[in-house]
Formats: sequence, structure tokens, C-alpha cells
Amino acid sequence: MKKALITGVTGQDGSYLAEFLLEKGYEVHGMIRRSSSYNQERLEDLLTEEEAASLYNHKNFHLHYGDVTDALNVTRLIGEIRPDEIYNLAAQSHVRVSFDMPGYTLDVDAKGTLNILEAVRIVGLMEKTRVYQASTSELFGKVQEIPQKETTPFYPRSPYGVAKIYGFWITKNYRESYNMFAVNGILFNHESERRGETFVTRKITLAAARIAQEKQKKLSLGNLDSLRDWGYAKDYVECMWLILQHDKPEDFVIATGEMHTVREFVELAFKHVGIEIEWNGNGVEEKGINKATGEVIVDVDPKFFRPAEVDQLLGDPTKARTLLGWNPTKTSFENLVRIMVQSDCIKISKEENVKRMFD
Ligand code: NAP
Ligand code: GDD
Repeated sequence: MKKALITGVTGQDGSYLAEFLLEKGYEVHGMIRRSSSYNQERLEDLLTEEEAASLYNHKNFHLHYGDVTDALNVTRLIGEIRPDEIYNLAAQSHVRVSFDMPGYTLDVDAKGTLNILEAVRIVGLMEKTRVYQASTSELFGKVQEIPQKETTPFYPRSPYGVAKIYGFWITKNYRESYNMFAVNGILFNHESERRGETFVTRKITLAAARIAQEKQKKLSLGNLDSLRDWGYAKDYVECMWLILQHDKPEDFVIATGEMHTVREFVELAFKHVGIEIEWNGNGVEEKGINKATGEVIVDVDPKFFRPAEVDQLLGDPTKARTLLGWNPTKTSFENLVRIMVQSDCIKISKEENVKRMFD
């Protein structure tokens, strides 16, 4: 039985990856941070009813307290678990927040990656353990060519992107210096019903569900012109695994090869709840109007603008398709939006039902 260690297991990708690896028969170890409040909602789906009472009872699933910035802790955990594969997904992953917390983002996203690689070296697992680093399309930032592929030069536009560039290069450096199987997945935006609520897609699908059920009046957003290559997180974790199963340690771009504006995402999400949006005005004055009622349900708030923006991202997944046999269009953009809106409509109506019970 193969052993995997996932850092960032409580995040969107970590939870899907844990499920995926358990289904493949892995013994899965996840690193969780100590928190004063419960932080394992995304992992609850891992349990069948029989497997039960608590996560800690799942026979192949083990959680360990840890933090990638704590080198002692990371080294001890890797030395004790001796994993065949490490997926380093832990990150301060919010681009806007990285402008407010550049130092912390550096510690987690850059130094944290070094701590993992160095731990593998120190405990003598360089020949055994394969390391996956969660790199990002934010490395391309102010894009130098369209579409972006493995050979496209980087030009990050945020403290997050700059910290992740260190993670990218230190992973490549350990591969070249110590012959380690240490690789980068350069993943473009991927979303799901488990996406954090402050990322734009989830903010939109939650708002569409709430506005349709009259629980919210308006959605305020930042840059509506921003273009992203959005895929489905569940499809992308499969690719993380495929990258580590490849016969050679190589870096891969993972993307759908299609991009859409934030505005298009909004239109489609609202369409799924039966609301047609008409746009009026430009820039900060732009409004999204409910065609049926004439109400303004979307506006622009400059507080959501970023000091430096990544205007567009479009990935070329040819290498992953050809060498890994991965299908970049398994879940279409339309279907992704539908999955997310549907899930949020159910979530909001459940909350409403519970609230009614206490009214
Ligand atoms: P996410 O939902 O924000 O999850 C981040 C995870 O990292 C959470 O489990 C978080 O724990 C954990 N974490 C944060 N700081 C940590 C620390 N100091 N030590 C240990 N764990 C820590 O992110 P995601 O969307 O799943 O993304 C996974 C990875 O892929 C990240 O590295 C992200 O930068 C990268 N990435 C994401 C995308 C995307 O579109 N989703 C695209 C490219 C790359 P808590 O739950 O305790 O906060
Ligand atoms: N979050 C947010 N909130 N973004 C908004 C808003 C808003 O209200 N309005 C417009 N946007 C725009 C942002 O300016 C950005 O151009 C785009 O929507 C996407 O923003 P996010 O969903 O926050 O994602 P991101 O592209 O900045 O970063 C995500 O993808 C990266 C891969 O390209 C994160 O998951 C990163 O961790 C990941 O590396």
C-alpha cells in the first residue's frame, strides 16, 4: 500500500485529493493546522456512515497537526510517515490577501516549500519520496505569450505569485541538484462547490443562490473584465496524481484551454437561477440589472480591485493531454457553473429550512 502525505488537506484541492487517493487504495496522511474553531468541513465527505464516528477512525486516513512554516514539525512528520508521495498544497492561496500579508505569504508559500524538500533530504528519503509542488498560473501574471505553456516566461504580479515563484524554482533546483522526483503542476484556476467563499466564482454562485431565494439584495465585485481559464477541481487533482506517476520528473501546465470573463461567469450563474442580467454603464459605474424586475443586483466596488491585476490567463494543456493522457475538457465551463450554483442553492435552502424551524 502506497503512503501519501498531503499538506493543505483541509483546503479545496486537499479534500478532493484525499478522497481520490483513498479510492486508489493509498494510506493517506494529512497535515492540519491547529485552529480554535472546527476546520475540517471539507473532509467530512470522506467518511461513509459505517466508517464513521470520526475522521480519525477512517482506517487509511490519518491526520497530523502541523504547519509547513515549522521546519522541525515538517521534518519529524516526514521522517515518521516516510511517504512515497508528498503533495504540497498548503498555501496562503488568496492573491488579494497576499498584498495585505506579503511576509506571511512568503513564509508559507516559499519557505514552507523549502521546508518540505529539505526535510525529505535530511531524513534520507530523496530516492523514495516523490514531491508534488502546487505551482500556479499566477506565475505567468502579466502574460508574455498567449496561451501560456511550460516554456512561457514568468512575470508574477502579486506577493503570492512572487512567493510561488520561489516554490517553483526550489522544487526544480532540488530535482536538478539531488536527482529527486520533485515536480511542479502549474495549475490554472480550478473551482468547485468546495471553493473558498471569497474567491470570485464561489462568491458569485453563493450570491446567485441567495439573491434567487431573496436572502441577499446585491453582489459587489471588483474587475469584471478579468479573464480566467476555469476548470473543475475534482478533475485537476487526478492530474496531480498523474504527474507523480509519470516515468520522468517533469513540470506540467494544467488548464482547460478556454477563458471567460468574470462578467460571463456572473451571467451564467444567474441564468441557472432563472435571472437574466442586462449590463449598464462602464468601469466602476457598471451595473448588472435583473431584466425582469429592473433591480440592480450586481455592482462594482473598487475595494475589490488589486494593486496589480492579472488581466488574463489561458493555459495550453497539450503536454498533459499528450504525455499523461489527461482530459482537460471533462467538465465544461457551463457544467462547472451549473454544479456550483446547484450546490449553493441547496446549501442556502437548507439553511433557510433550519432557520424556519427556530422562527
Ligand atoms: P485553499 O482551499 O486555500 O487551501 C489551502 C490549504 O493550505 C488549507 O488546507 C490551509 O489550511 C492550508 N494551509 C495554509 N497555510 C498553511 C500552513 N502554514 N501550514 C499548513 N497548511 C496550511 O487552496 P486550494 O484552492 O485548495 O489550493 C491548493 C494549492 O494549490 C495551494 O497551494 C494554491 O496556492 C495552489 N493553487 C490553487 C489553484 C486554484 O485555482 N485553486 C490554482 C493554482 C494553484 P486551513 O484550512 O487551516 O486554512
Ligand atoms: N476574489 C475576488 N473577489 N476576485 C474578484 C472579485 C471579487 O469580488 N471581483 C473580481 N475579481 C477578479 C480578480 O481581480 C481576479 O482577476 C479574478 O476575479 C479571479 O480572482 P480569484 O477568484 O480571487 O482568483 P485568482 O485568479 O486571483 O487566484 C486563484 O487562482 C490562482 C491560479 O491562477 C487562487 O486560487 C490562487 O491560489 C491560484 O494560484
